[in-house]
Amino acid sequence: MAKALSRPRRTQVVGDTPMELSVNGRPYKLYLDARVTLLDALRDHMGLTGTKKGCDQGACGACTVHVNGRRVLSCLTLAAQCDDQEVTTIEGLAGAEGPHPLQESFVRHDGFQCGFCTPGQIMSAVALIQEGRAGSDDDVREYMSGNLCRCGAYANIVAAIREVASADGASAGRTSADGASAGSASAARAPRGGTDASL
Ligand code: FES
Ligand code: FES
Repeated sequence: MAKALSRPRRTQVVGDTPMELSVNGRPYKLYLDARVTLLDALRDHMGLTGTKKGCDQGACGACTVHVNGRRVLSCLTLAAQCDDQEVTTIEGLAGAEGPHPLQESFVRHDGFQCGFCTPGQIMSAVALIQEGRAGSDDDVREYMSGNLCRCGAYANIVAAIREVASADGASAGRTSADGASAGSASAARAPRGGTDASL
């Protein structure tokens, strides 16, 4: 079984641009139109529908995934740009030991209502903590501001993220003031809200 999963898997051939992506540790070989976004490639050609299409124009954060560990908006990223790159989606977040701590924390804190924004919120939050930008409620609000929630679950989302960040030594040691200096350094590589528009 494990051997079968490790083989490159060719999905639909719907274009003439070849690309090989590693998604959640699994290799995919695709032939798509060069204009296909990473979001559409994930949802329509790899069957990974956990990543949501909200606005499809870079304004809501619902489509947030990681490319080489960096959060990006998959609706503004071409699949072809991810050739030979490592992509992680919400489906790849849980480990063999169970859900990711942020997934558990979102449940514990009721960090969602309808759940549509939740995959993007969690993917963004994982990166946020890894970036060391979750040192205060204000920092979390600032660096998660690119992820919108129509249900208005913001207070609980912040609480869920802060709980995990506090248990994480790297983030817990940062103060809001630290975050300001870190933010100025990071501003060059990440727009407001923290999620890169594309690669
Ligand atoms: S779907 Fe809204 S930012 Fe990508
Ligand atoms: S939980 Fe419904 S949009 Fe966020």
